[in-house]
Amino acid sequence: MMSMQSADELADPKPRHVAIIMDGNGRWAKSHGLPRTAGHRKGVEAVRRIVQASGELGIEYLTLYGFSSENWKRPVDEIVDLMGLLRRYLRAETADLHKNNVLLRVIGDRNALEPDIVALIEGAEEKMCGNTGLNLTVALSYGGRQELTAAARSIAYEIAAGQLRPEDIDEHVVECHLSTHGLPDPDLLIRTSGEQRVSNFLLWQTAYTELVFSDVLWPDFGRDELAAAIREYGRRERRYGAVVG
Ligand code: IPE
Ligand code: IPE
Ligand code: MG
Repeated sequence: MMSMQSADELADPKPRHVAIIMDGNGRWAKSHGLPRTAGHRKGVEAVRRIVQASGELGIEYLTLYGFSSENWKRPVDEIVDLMGLLRRYLRAETADLHKNNVLLRVIGDRNALEPDIVALIEGAEEKMCGNTGLNLTVALSYGGRQELTAAARSIAYEIAAGQLRPEDIDEHVVECHLSTHGLPDPDLLIRTSGEQRVSNFLLWQTAYTELVFSDVLWPDFGRDELAAAIREYGRRERRYGAVVG
């Protein structure tokens, strides 16, 4: 049975790092005649499923796009609802994630988040900082352009302070100034809901990432859909600009 698929049964090579743009909550709600908030609630259940399935399928790094820098443009009611769900998720799941040896990291602009949410994030990160299981990164108030802009600014400050010379700036230096510092680049980026765009996610890090688009709306996305995306990844030939074979 497909849902019993283990890491060993998936085609090789398997992605070490899977990133997901979790899209389609609003359309899921609409198609069920429900308010958008119901879609977001179902979306949180899908997050739980996928975190668990990722561990079982042997993924080492999972990065989830939860809220973009541009999502602040949404109606206030929806933002309040999403932040409420985030609070509840952090309160309810931190202990379980920790028990499952998950290492949590949150990336994005924390200054834009409510102080109590920042405190929950810091508490969860601290608790899990020694864990050695699934590396779970959640992008909140995150934008790739904002991240690269912040990196440029902090490199400029280091140069102005005489700590760095312009000729020393290379890809490694840039990488060190990104919020994903220390994570391998994603091997596979999945976007759900049929949209085929990057929407400001991990712009630097996805330079050579394989993209898989699924028509399934995020609240319906589960272990089988994840396994299918991983099998699709297994059929790809990664060339990194070189001539292979
Ligand atoms: C993804 O679902 C969740 C967030 C971006 C926070 P959407 O809310 O974007 O759902 P659609 O795209 O309107 O269906
Ligand atoms: C991208 O989805 C952001 C997240 C999934 C968190 P959006 O729904 O915000 O993206 P666009 O507006 O369709 O590009
Ligand atoms: Mg959307």
